[in-house]
Amino acid sequence: MNSERAEQLRRELQEHSYRYHVLSDPIITDGEYDQLYNELKALEEAYPELITPDSPTQRAGFEPISDLPKVPHIKPILSLSNAFNRADLIAWYERIRKLLAPEAQIDFVVEPKFDGLTVVLTYENGVLKQAATRGNGEVGDDVTPNVRTIKSIPLRLLKNEIPSRLVVRGEVLFLKEDFKRINEKQAEEGLPLYVNARNTASGTLKQKDSRITASRPLTAFVYSIVDADGDVPETQWETLAYLKALGFLTAPEARRFDNIETAAAYAEGFERHSLPYEIDGLVIKVNRHAVFEELGVVGKDPRGATAFKFPSEEVTTRLIGVTIGIGRTGVLTPTADLEPVFLGVTVKSASLHNYDLIHDKDIRLGDKVIVKRSGDVIPYVVGPVIAARTGTETPILPPEKCPVCDFPVIRPAGEVAYYCSNPACPERIARNLIYFVSRGAMDIDGLGESGVRLLLEKGLIHDEGDLFFLKAEDLLELEGFAQKKVDNLLNSIEAAKSRPLSRLVASLGIRGIGTTVAALLTQHFRTIDDLIQATPENLQNIEGIGPHTAAAIVEYFSQPHHLALIEKFRQAGLNLENQREVPTSDKLAGKAFVLTGTLPTMSREEASALIESHGGSVKSSVSKKTDYVVAGEAAGSKLTRAQVLGIPILDEQGLLHLIGNE
Ligand code: IVH
Repeated sequence: MNSERAEQLRRELQEHSYRYHVLSDPIITDGEYDQLYNELKALEEAYPELITPDSPTQRAGFEPISDLPKVPHIKPILSLSNAFNRADLIAWYERIRKLLAPEAQIDFVVEPKFDGLTVVLTYENGVLKQAATRGNGEVGDDVTPNVRTIKSIPLRLLKNEIPSRLVVRGEVLFLKEDFKRINEKQAEEGLPLYVNARNTASGTLKQKDSRITASRPLTAFVYSIVDADGDVPETQWETLAYLKALGFLTAPEARRFDNIETAAAYAEGFERHSLPYEIDGLVIKVNRHAVFEELGVVGKDPRGATAFKFPSEEVTTRLIGVTIGIGRTGVLTPTADLEPVFLGVTVKSASLHNYDLIHDKDIRLGDKVIVKRSGDVIPYVVGPVIAARTGTETPILPPEKCPVCDFPVIRPAGEVAYYCSNPACPERIARNLIYFVSRGAMDIDGLGESGVRLLLEKGLIHDEGDLFFLKAEDLLELEGFAQKKVDNLLNSIEAAKSRPLSRLVASLGIRGIGTTVAALLTQHFRTIDDLIQATPENLQNIEGIGPHTAAAIVEYFSQPHHLALIEKFRQAGLNLENQREVPTSDKLAGKAFVLTGTLPTMSREEASALIESHGGSVKSSVSKKTDYVVAGEAAGSKLTRAQVLGIPILDEQGLLHLIGNE
């Protein structure tokens, strides 16, 4: 029984490993692989007689298969054991504790476990001489020309007094933002999108033509010294600082802890999604190198470090249907109905983005698909598992008619999305109202989706304007609306009348107008009437407003029922003017800014308005042309990119200082 299961696991693991490493066409996720691997490992631990020499647990890695030149590593490039929860971590600690003298001090460094590819970099007299992949841990691929194109890898080290030969190890990856941009470019050029950042980074690093590598912005983080002819720091913590001083990018999230409990607490509470790059866990390392060495190696894993792996957030399941949602602008959004699958929570549906993506990724009904959850965002379908096709899968096409009102579906020029062409589509009206009352829009407390649908159904409202004329006696007749609830609702409707104009504009449901664009508009057009009269040319003069957005605004206000709506707002006494006075100067003339993270006192719109009112411009992404990055709390990949490119980074105070009004 056990031996049969072990044999089955060995065969499956071998197959999946081959698909992953040789064919670059995996049909299960890394997490699913780990599960099988760990089952086999546990079985072998309980019944050592089951271990065979060809078991995947018995080897250091896969033979290198590419035809790049091979380079032997100066020392074996080790891997890591895994821990999946606090208990595993404590058990790891107990095991190493027993191997050391009772009085030995053990402190730890916790670092992100980058989900990229290992590179081993050799510097001679401070100059980069060779770069190799991990390969099988003994011999790797020579990727020196490609690695030379990676800007975060110094070609010459910054300090002079360094060992004559220094071999360091790091991880090459795509920052999330860069990966997104690569796919945007692919989409623009009508090329298929890349599904997985790690696999794309791998393909990019192993390119034969380093010009291709150079065209894609890889980033490298370095975390250890493999070998050195000379003195290097005695602890991991000092090593990270040393590497940073030499000019390498190191993880700012690394922390040192005096004991395993605090280290484990940091690992458990770690917010993986706040990082600008993908990680699949954290690495917990014994800080003192001498202790690390003393602990030795089991198989391919050093005892002195372990990987605390996050639960996998990618799974495969079957796509059994597509539900079409209708958004407030009439946009049709396809959502995948899935065979329920566990991804931290049970997932039954996932975003399919849009029909272009469905087409580009060739996702078909009945496909086995990879589903991923990242951060708090809803799960999405990464792509199909082509190898699992049976031939019965059917293509997914955009509908020709709105599934709610049967009006024709249209696709405006230059847009990816399909829309219901009926401005009076009941679902559109409902969605627009639900959005209008929501917290991000007019924030009418006490009214949510079910309330809006009830008011529509009872005929008490037909559009957003009617909300402001609701009467207590009508509301009191509705099921579940007692006096107190009605009072509260009427109070919040009253409060909504004085929201800033930009909020109202953002709440109208004009295509392409969210809070940022609405704030831009109301800085330039101080009243709703000015905005109504704006021409496409007026609108396009505003930085950040393109022809499609300008056209959508003009189109919106050309509709008589929208003008009637504005009149209802006016009659109800809503605020239709922008009261804010903005100081102006040209202190920031010609300077390009990028904002990232949350600033302590200013909203993003306020900061943008401030910069623009002093002659600066605000861009959405960091490039060599960026003059300053203004970073607040939880700043993301833009901050990392600025660090990589060496662009000055300001906080809110710094920005105010620059303008001269602290
Ligand atoms: S330390 C002896 N630190 O994870 C030292 N590895 O599953 C062993 N990895 O092959 C590695 N981030 O390529 C270390 N901060 C980090 C890492 C890291 C990613 C990779 C490494 C290794 C794999 C083990």
